[in-house]
Amino acid sequence: MPQWCTGTVVDRKEWSPGLFTITVATDEVEPFEPGQFLQLGVFRDGHYGDPDALINRPYSVASPHGSQLEFFIVTVPEGELTPRLDQLREGSTLQVSKKAAGSFTLKKAPDAKHLWLVATGTGLAPYIAMLRTTKPWDQFEKIIVVHGVRHAADFAYTQQLKNYEADHPEQFRVVQTLTREDSAVALRGRIPDLLASGALEEAAGCKLSAAESAVYLCGNPAMLDSMEEGLAERQMKKHRSKSPGHIVLERYW
Ligand SMILES: Cc1cc2nc3c(=O)[nH]c(=O)nc-3n(C[C@H](O)[C@H](O)[C@H](O)COP(=O)(O)OP(=O)(O)OC[C@H]3O[C@@H](n4cnc5c(N)ncnc54)[C@H](O)[C@@H]3O)c2cc1C
Ligand SMILES: NC(=O)c1ccc[n+]([C@@H]2O[C@H](COP(=O)([O-])OP(=O)(O)OC[C@H]3O[C@@H](n4cnc5c(N)ncnc54)[C@H](OP(=O)(O)O)[C@@H]3O)[C@@H](O)[C@H]2O)c1
Repeated sequence: MPQWCTGTVVDRKEWSPGLFTITVATDEVEPFEPGQFLQLGVFRDGHYGDPDALINRPYSVASPHGSQLEFFIVTVPEGELTPRLDQLREGSTLQVSKKAAGSFTLKKAPDAKHLWLVATGTGLAPYIAMLRTTKPWDQFEKIIVVHGVRHAADFAYTQQLKNYEADHPEQFRVVQTLTREDSAVALRGRIPDLLASGALEEAAGCKLSAAESAVYLCGNPAMLDSMEEGLAERQMKKHRSKSPGHIVLERYW
C-alpha cells in the first residue's frame, strides 16, 4: 500500500464538462521524473480517514517536480473515483501517494533524433510535464505532439502547445486529431489510420521512421495496440533496457 499524504486543491480548470485539471498543494511528495504517476484517493462519504474506505487510482502528474502538482482528468460517468474527483473544488482535500511510480519517462528514452509524443484524451498529461522541463528540448532535434480526441471541445493545453510552436518553430509541432467532428484546425480520423494514410506525417512536416524516431504512446489501450501494429510495419518495436527499440507505452486502463 502506498504511503499517503493529504493534498489541498488550490486551483481547478474545467476544459469542458467532465474534463478538468486540478492543481494540488502538498509538500510531502518525494521528487519524481516527468511522466511518472501518483495515486489520488478520496474517502467514501461518511468514512473520512478510514483506509478501507479510500478509493484510489493512478494519475500521471502533468507538472514537473518542484511546481505544484497538476492532474488532467476525465470523468468516466460510470467510474467509481472520477465523478468524486470532479466534485472537488478549491479548498477540498484528497489523498496523494507520497512516492511516484512508473517508467514512462524520458530518463532512458530511445536514442533518436525525433521525439513523437502521441496521446488520446488525458494521455496528454505526462507530455505536458515533460515539455515543462529542459530535457526534451535539449535532447531531440524535433518534438511532435499528437493529441487525439472525440470533439474539439475535448482539446486541452492547446495554448501551451501553440506557444511552444511559436517559440520553437523548427523544433516543435502539435498535430490535433478529431474522430467525431470536423474542424479546420485538426485532422479528422483515428491516429493509427492517420499514420497509415501518411496524413499524420504530412501535418507534422516530419517522417516517422525506425532510423530517426522515438515514439511515446499514452491513453486508450486500443490506440496503443493499433499504433504498435502500425509501427511494427515500419520495423519499430518496444524499447526495453536490455533490448533497445523505439516505442514506450503507458496504458491508462
Ligand atoms: C499509469 C496510469 C496513469 C493514469 N493517468 C491518468 C490521467 O492522468 N488522467 C486520467 O483521467 N486518467 C488516468 N488514468 C486512468 C485512471 O487511473 C482511472 O482508471 C480512471 O480515472 C477511471 O477511474 P474511475 O474510478 O472513475 O473508473 P473505474 O471505476 O476504475 O473504471 C471504470 C472503467 O472505465 C474505463 N476507463 C478507465 N479510465 C478511462 C478513461 N480515461 N477513459 C475511458 N475509459 C476509462 C475502464 O474500462 C474501467 O474499467 C491513468 C491510469 C494509469 C494506469
Ligand atoms: N470531454 C470529454 O472528453 C469527456 C467528458 C465527460 C466524460 N467523458 C467520458 O470519459 C470517457 C473517456 O472519453 P475520452 O474521449 O477521454 O477517451 P476515449 O474514449 O479513449 O477517446 C479518445 C480518443 O481515442 C480514440 N480511440 C478510441 N479507440 C481507438 C483506437 N482503437 N485507435 C485509435 N484511437 C482510438 C477515440 O476515437 P473514437 O471517437 O473513434 O472512439 C477518441 O478520438 C468516456 O466514458 C467519456 O464518455 C469524456
